[in-house]
Amino acid sequence: MLPGLVDSHTHLVWAGDRLEEYRLRARGAAYEAILEAGGGIHNTVKATQQADEDELLAIALQRARLFLRGGVTTLEVKSGYGLTLEAELKMLRVIRRLAEAVPQRIVPTLLAHVVPPDWERERYLEMFTRELLPEVVRLGLAEAVDVFCDRGAFTLAETRRIFEAALEHGLAIKAHAEQLSSSGATRLVAELGGLSADHLEQAGPEDWRALATAGTVGTLLPGASVILKKPMPDARGMWDAGVKVAVASDHNPGSSPLYGLILAMQLAMALGNLSVEEALIAATAHTADALGRPRLGRLELGSEADLIVVDAAEALTPLYHWGHNGLHSVYVAGEQVLAGYM
Ligand code: NIG
Ligand code: FE
Repeated sequence: MLPGLVDSHTHLVWAGDRLEEYRLRARGAAYEAILEAGGGIHNTVKATQQADEDELLAIALQRARLFLRGGVTTLEVKSGYGLTLEAELKMLRVIRRLAEAVPQRIVPTLLAHVVPPDWERERYLEMFTRELLPEVVRLGLAEAVDVFCDRGAFTLAETRRIFEAALEHGLAIKAHAEQLSSSGATRLVAELGGLSADHLEQAGPEDWRALATAGTVGTLLPGASVILKKPMPDARGMWDAGVKVAVASDHNPGSSPLYGLILAMQLAMALGNLSVEEALIAATAHTADALGRPRLGRLELGSEADLIVVDAAEALTPLYHWGHNGLHSVYVAGEQVLAGYM
């Protein structure tokens, strides 16, 4: 047996697709240039705004099922492809309905992703912090607020403002930090006692030290690093510097169309030099801590009985066989929720 895998960073709810962008990027087009030209995330926003709640739920259910087959028993799911007040609330309602419909544990996050092109920045920040955030809290639709702090998204000062509003409302905070540029977001999340700083492709030893000192989780998203052809963060260096290193899928239609966590763990081993055991801890106990859920991602006295039964003599076999999970069955809270999948 292994602990059920905990995916602490996904954008599971989205409509449309980005195959065209994927084809362009494979020929050398840059993710950042596509985003700045109004494509990328903005394309998914259009499709997600147009889709109704039932459609979004149906697509998300299929995706959650695939993650379950890959042994993922807890999924964090972000909003962020709605952008407007109504469309963000719609996404979060879909996430709530998803939580009621799937066997997995679902942890909802409100994501400040980008400023819509037709909005003045100040007006958008006002709307986000004074209207959307309080409404999300009033309806109990999210546990945390995430900010994409980067070129083409939010500045460090804007990120701080959103975090302060989130903390005032009693929500936890985390960030998409140092993915495309070195923004200072990692140190800001650590300074404010946030749950995690995610991506970290451009982070350096100073940032690692801040995470280690604060006990904020450093989450690597190897799917996004590899698919966007960015250098994979030095997972070994971070781990040895005392950072609680986590690994998540970052499932999304653009930078990481990845439907599981086992491949992300294998990439963290192959390209980040984690040991097999460390990769397992990174995608179970450490991702659980990144969600503020220390009773998940572990098999020990007092932990939740979320577990995977492996169809092999050795529990670590799923990390050894690439492209073949070899799982026998999956349990959440001691109940079998999937059986007979090979
Ligand atoms: O985690 N970096 C920003 N957000 C997502 C990508 C979203 C998208 O490309 O649709 C990420 O990589
Ligand atoms: Fe992300």
